[in-house]
Amino acid sequence: MPDPESVFDGAVSIVVAEEHQHTTNVVFEGDNLEILPTLAEASVTLVYIDPPFNTGREQQRHVTSSVRVAEGGSTGFKGKSYERVRGELRRYDDTFDDYWTFLEPRLLEAWRLLADDGTLYLHLDYREAHYAKVLLDAIFGRDSFLNELIWAYDYGAKSKSKWPTKHDTILVYVKNPKAYYFNSDAVDREPYMAPGLVTPEKVERGKLPTDVWWHTIVSPTGKEKTGYPTQKPAGILRRIIQASSREGDVVLDFFAGSGTTGAVASALGRRFIMIDQNPEAIAVMRARLAAVDVDWRTSDNPKENE
Ligand SMILES: C[S@@+](CC[C@H](N)C(=O)[O-])C[C@H]1O[C@@H](n2cnc3c(N)ncnc32)[C@H](O)[C@@H]1O
Repeated sequence: MPDPESVFDGAVSIVVAEEHQHTTNVVFEGDNLEILPTLAEASVTLVYIDPPFNTGREQQRHVTSSVRVAEGGSTGFKGKSYERVRGELRRYDDTFDDYWTFLEPRLLEAWRLLADDGTLYLHLDYREAHYAKVLLDAIFGRDSFLNELIWAYDYGAKSKSKWPTKHDTILVYVKNPKAYYFNSDAVDREPYMAPGLVTPEKVERGKLPTDVWWHTIVSPTGKEKTGYPTQKPAGILRRIIQASSREGDVVLDFFAGSGTTGAVASALGRRFIMIDQNPEAIAVMRARLAAVDVDWRTSDNPKENE
């Protein structure tokens, strides 16, 4: 488990060490591509991200020219084949080209920040999941692919001209396939679909979830709702965090939105780092995490930014 102060590099580590020794959770406001390089290598156990899909050309303004291209050095990056696959996919689909230009440097940062036993959960929808899978195989290495999780829900209007699309895909990659942390015993179990076919003891205990997760969306009228439009259910994050981190570990979400990751991580005794560039997301997180000890590195907190 990393020391709280060692999570941060450079200037950030000085502030944390000198002024916020008690603080273990941090929320940053800003472009994640500028903030991620200030965090220390191999310092987080779990990265969960749920990036926006429609990043579009506008986002390219944020892309630096220093995108590191995969090459030798680290085991995950398979130089030439990654270049070739990326070139082919991006030529094939302009929208995906824009999307991947935005996401790629951030995923390289995620890889750098993960500890040797760490895991990435990349939450996508059906439009981009398959391209992203091929590219992530090349970035992390095919051996590092752990799961394709399907989160299935049933809510809202249904198309009559095709099968209604009612699922998201979460791709799971580990930094080191020989050393990753995964604890299925810590995961909340679920009811058997056919309880009559198993013993009463098994019914009582429930079954281990598979890679297909039926879970309702955040109810528009329920207690969990924060008002942030893309909020994901705490139940989904709970499983992820229970399985792929231990108490005290650091969980990172750099597309944090309403702060679901931090709220669940904190409830489960993990530390968190979250980043979002939208002031509305920061406001929602402030309200949601009011009872949690957080170092707010945000524009609405000039004192702490000094
Ligand atoms: C789909 S939402 C995440 C929702 C979140 N999982 C939740 O449960 O609330 C994506 C978030 O990424 C943020 N975002 C988009 N581009 C960003 C960037 N370059 N840096 C930081 N945050 C960014 C958006 O402001 C938005 O809040």
